[in-house]
Amino acid sequence: MSWEAIRYEVTDGVATVTLNRPDVHNAMNDVMRRELTSCFTALVTDDDVRVVVVTGAGERAFSAGADIREFVAPTGAVGFREHRKRLDFRQVMDRCPQPIIAAIRGYAFGGGLELALACDIRFAGDDARLGLTEIDLAIIPGGGGTQRLPRLVGRGKALEMILSGVRLPAAEALAIGLVERVVPAAEVLPTALAFARTLAGKAPVALRYAKEAVVKGRGLPLADGIRLENDLATLLRTTEDRVEGARAFLEKRPPKWTGR
Ligand code: COA
Repeated sequence: MSWEAIRYEVTDGVATVTLNRPDVHNAMNDVMRRELTSCFTALVTDDDVRVVVVTGAGERAFSAGADIREFVAPTGAVGFREHRKRLDFRQVMDRCPQPIIAAIRGYAFGGGLELALACDIRFAGDDARLGLTEIDLAIIPGGGGTQRLPRLVGRGKALEMILSGVRLPAAEALAIGLVERVVPAAEVLPTALAFARTLAGKAPVALRYAKEAVVKGRGLPLADGIRLENDLATLLRTTEDRVEGARAFLEKRPPKWTGR
């Protein structure tokens, strides 16, 4: 499949999705949103991809958010209804069983940060600036930001960011738990890819169930979450890889996972 506003490649079980409009700091236009929806929809059922990395082309931005030039084009009633029918690509990301890692260099604003919030783990460069800046355009986040940000950093910090539109430097983002690691800018993507390869080397079914237990469990009452963990742990006891893992340990050799 050929893409216009993103790049997509898979190497050794790691898919890299690159937002590819560097001339406008990878701002998201309609084409990019549609392509991200198609790409993540395909990933939901792609067993060959174990881990996904999302990044931005060029050295200056992950994404500067929605393409503001589209805001001034008039939208008729039909356009609004069409928009309402569409599934936001970040909701498709929520259905991906693979861990998704954001590699953030430079600007991550508005919809760009909302995309990073829909990832499971965020690594940022020391040059990163992150913000839900919509308020300065007289709008509010519309890609899940008002819901995902408070779940990640708490109500007060989320409101501080969303009401003011502040553009946080990487170190502050790290301090509030908005990103998991800050590394020198040029090392963000290599660090994310190296981590992705480490995860891709784990037993495939265990990797997926580990994510499922944490992500689905967070939305459940504790007792139901523990039940879910128990069910998934029990299902894992049926895999060949579980026996292989134990044998490899006892025989002092690296395991050979089959994903069965
Ligand atoms: N939508 C459309 N175009 C954008 C854009 C966006 N969100 N963000 C940047 N661009 C464009 C600029 O208009 C400019 O285009 P031009 O070369 O045709 O003039 C180009 O990208 C480079 O941006 P520029 O502003 O010149 O670079 P900068 O380094 O001085 O500043 C930003 C970069 C990201 C700080 C600044 O562009 C900005 O604040 N963008 C808006 C971010 C935002 O509010 N996003 C949320 C949208 S809801």
